[in-house]
Amino acid sequence: MKKMVTMVLAVCFVIAFSSVVMAAEWDKCAACHKAGDKPSFSKETLLKKHKTADAFIKAAKDSKSPMMNAFKNDALLAPVAKELYK
Ligand code: HEC
Repeated sequence: MKKMVTMVLAVCFVIAFSSVVMAAEWDKCAACHKAGDKPSFSKETLLKKHKTADAFIKAAKDSKSPMMNAFKNDALLAPVAKELYK
């Protein structure tokens, strides 16, 4: 019986952990890229505007907004693009 409880807990932990990992990359951007497109475009809007991961990364790098300056490198953008365009 104890074993069973441990198993169930382990499964719950794995499920909870994997959903956190899945959302992790976009979370770096979600503070500004919010639903309602303010202060900047939501994930859904960005996916509609930019059809591929490459176009998405290019748009991020081409952004005129000073708020995007800290994000204009592949080490940050590539994992986000991979997460969004899978
Ligand atoms: C501090 C706030 C902030 C954060 C954090 C942020 N952005 Fe932005 N981003 C902006 C603003 C402001 C713009 C310009 C929006 C506009 O042109 O109206 C922008 C523009 C963009 C664009 C270009 C959109 C277009 O179609 O012109 C992309 C792509 C983008 N961001 C991706 C990202 C990604 C990916 C991350 C996370 C790694 C991120 N942003 C994090 C504020 C932010």
